[in-house]
Amino acid sequence: MIIKKAEFIVSNSQVSQCPQTHEAEYAFIGRSNVGKSSLINMLTGKNGLAKTSATPGKTMLINHFRINDEWYIVDLPGYGFAKRSKKDQDKLVEMIYSYILQREQMVNLFLLIDSRHEPQKIDLEFMEWLGENAIPFSIIFTKADKLSKSKLNTNVAAYLNALKEQWEELPPHFITSSETRLGREDVLNYIESINQNL
Ligand code: GTP
Ligand code: MG
Repeated sequence: MIIKKAEFIVSNSQVSQCPQTHEAEYAFIGRSNVGKSSLINMLTGKNGLAKTSATPGKTMLINHFRINDEWYIVDLPGYGFAKRSKKDQDKLVEMIYSYILQREQMVNLFLLIDSRHEPQKIDLEFMEWLGENAIPFSIIFTKADKLSKSKLNTNVAAYLNALKEQWEELPPHFITSSETRLGREDVLNYIESINQNL
């Protein structure tokens, strides 16, 4: 898929205030600092479209970006950022959960996992919650440039094996780097294939 246009539309803290539209949207979620906003910039080819930061906790709102005048990318706040107050943490979790449960336009959620790490309880539990609520999701392993090719393959295989203990059928998965643009075509083609079947 060719990205001809990518524009910021709106940020807000409540799902009820998200754009009133019937167009499909794809949201990006995962732990703070996993690389959600960077991936959105890489996919759209527009650096600075989504705000990124080396400090976790940068994205605090639900951010809508309209792509090619026909569908949306949504940048969500990360979860699991320990340095936030309990109150702020709870507020963000509530924002994320209500967006995921209520937003009918969301046709697929991309769950980002840092390819350097072993499976983390917080992500596995989050996936379990997605499954219980029948939310369609796919996994994106991020920051592939930070690992050697063999270590990357070992880590991804180990992760998928761990998931097989929990899931009968594995969700689709992708391996990406926002630095080298690895995986860009795969993710965009996947989105295009869903768009075409709607
Ligand atoms: P929050 O909004 O805080 O939840 O974080 P986020 O998931 O949106 O992460 P963000 O895109 O802001 O990136 C966090 C840090 O990781 C930044 O310093 C990025 O430059 C870096 N980063 C993101 N993706 C990659 C990648 O593919 N490779 C490398 N080397 N660094 C990356
Ligand atoms: Mg972000």
